[in-house]
Amino acid sequence: MNVNRERIMQRIDAFAGFNDNDDGGISRFSYGRADADARAWLMQICRELKLQVTVDPVGNIRACYEGVDSSLMPVLVGSHIDSVRNGGKYDGIVGVVGAMEVLTVMRENNCLPRRSVELIIFAEEEGSNFGTTMVGSKTLIGKLSADDLRHLHTEDKRTCLEILEKSGLDPGKMKDFVLKPGDIEAMLELHIEQGIVLEQEKKRLGVVQAIAGMTTMEVTVCGTSNHAGATPMYLRNDPMSAAAVLIEDIEDIAANHVLESTVATVGSISCRPNMPNVIPGEVTFTIDIRDIEQDAIEKTVAQITSCAEKISQERKVMIRFRTIGSSKPIRLSPRIMDTVKRAVSSCSDSWMVMNSGAVHDAAMMASITDVGMIFVPSVGGKSHNPEEYTDPSDIALGCQALLLAVTELCV
Ligand code: GLV
Ligand code: MN
Ligand code: MN
Repeated sequence: MNVNRERIMQRIDAFAGFNDNDDGGISRFSYGRADADARAWLMQICRELKLQVTVDPVGNIRACYEGVDSSLMPVLVGSHIDSVRNGGKYDGIVGVVGAMEVLTVMRENNCLPRRSVELIIFAEEEGSNFGTTMVGSKTLIGKLSADDLRHLHTEDKRTCLEILEKSGLDPGKMKDFVLKPGDIEAMLELHIEQGIVLEQEKKRLGVVQAIAGMTTMEVTVCGTSNHAGATPMYLRNDPMSAAAVLIEDIEDIAANHVLESTVATVGSISCRPNMPNVIPGEVTFTIDIRDIEQDAIEKTVAQITSCAEKISQERKVMIRFRTIGSSKPIRLSPRIMDTVKRAVSSCSDSWMVMNSGAVHDAAMMASITDVGMIFVPSVGGKSHNPEEYTDPSDIALGCQALLLAVTELCV
């Protein structure tokens, strides 16, 4: 059985047409208009393929290609269709279209697998709405409860629970959909690398062995708001200047004081009242800290909070930290890595074993099942921006490897 490169690229382009952004990049937040249209289009294709489609109360979609032996646990294959703001057209979508292609080719070939194969689309992977990633998969494995969803909110203070209910979903029913160990045989995800390792190593496929963990925190710095002209410099408790010093320390800590693999990013910042002629009263920003080693994440958090205490005393501002989300680094299943290695090596000699610096729903699923991931190269290592690009021949190769891995696990 072989995948169809033309159909794969047409479907990637079709997804790019579902876009809430007219600025060049893709903005497709979960529960938004473009997301709803993309999901409807995807589910229509699933029905044409005679898959059993279910949507759970947080918006994860599962579409089942039934196997011959219903007593066997299914294999899941998929990714996400939501994006960051002004992102690219390949993040998540390559894995979704790859999974659609696997099921399409199986149907075309009247394949009768022993195990069922299910396409899975995770909702809200990027954290674009609520500032914390993987809300769909975290809820699916029981890491987030319906009550936790009440405490996640958008910048304009709409809660996750409210948004789900407005989308016609019933989060109170999530308990009935939560997956436990013993429910799923394995999960596979194809994804773009989002970094530059494959390109530098001149390899076309990556077999992922570990996924970085991450901690996302919100930092609020409170000072004294006052007149920008009438307040002398020595009489200020300016939270913006304090935040600037702390942000510089965060960069220095991640770059020079933990591991070479440690990264920390301040990617979102706001202040109140946000006026040119007013010393702000409050500055809020996020910190995204990641590493393959949990210890390094914890050391980074500890060093940042200790710098914050010092700054708080020196500048007489109050600094509060709130953890918005976290996930631990994970090692992928050696059993599924072996399957993936066999699959990639029968498609190409050009592959390597590697780590993922980006997080993926597969990392959440690893707590309830064996997980495998295949990477394809990102040109120039660019991702989470409109310049994201992967060569169509590499995408098709990744889809073919995914097909071989799925069929080894199911047939
Ligand atoms: C998700 O794509 C992330 O790694 O932030
Ligand atoms: Mn992704
Ligand atoms: Mn992403």
